Amino acid sequence: MLNTADTHARTGGLELRRIVYSEEDIARRVAEMGQEITAAYPEGEDLLVLGLLKGSFIFLADLVRHIARPIQVDFLVAASYGSGTESSGEVRLLYDPEASVAGRNLLLVEDIVDSGNTLNRLIPMLRERGPRSVELCALLHKRIAKNLVQEPRWVGFDAPREFLIGYGLDHSENFRNLPFIASL
Ligand code: IMP
Ligand code: MG
Repeated sequence: MLNTADTHARTGGLELRRIVYSEEDIARRVAEMGQEITAAYPEGEDLLVLGLLKGSFIFLADLVRHIARPIQVDFLVAASYGSGTESSGEVRLLYDPEASVAGRNLLLVEDIVDSGNTLNRLIPMLRERGPRSVELCALLHKRIAKNLVQEPRWVGFDAPREFLIGYGLDHSENFRNLPFIASL
């Protein structure tokens, strides 16, 4: 656990409103999700885990270590936020996976589902490439999104409708290295 001085060293002295999910909360839930995902994919089936960068990088790193199957990992880079705390509605794909997705089981890993714009743009694009299956796993879900093209099969936590940082989540690229999730 980070003490107050360690936390200050990572935030530049900024006071956080409150810690929403502690390191222990996250570790416990991520381990459970890994077990649930393992159980959902029978042995012998191939699985490509696609992390949505940048926000999912820490979650994905922890999650895949709890998936007891042979998997491959690749990443997508989509940008939906500028420097603010509100979704712009626009999603740009900056990096596209090299791994072919045709005929494969895909597990798309998201840090947080907010407006749903990102998923609503990405999922049809991935489906067009003819994967065998597409499932979503999100650490956090604000339950705001209307008309999601596909609901995540695995959700870590139903998150409060606040702007959250830490454990990969940023505000203007800062705070991704906090080991817990806090409200800004
Ligand atoms: P959506 O397209 O509105 O669902 O938002 C998707 C992306 O916005 C997420 O993958 C995050 O990178 C970012 N985002 C949404 N809510 C938050 C938040 O509370 N904190 C930090 N980033 C967020
Ligand atoms: Mg972000």
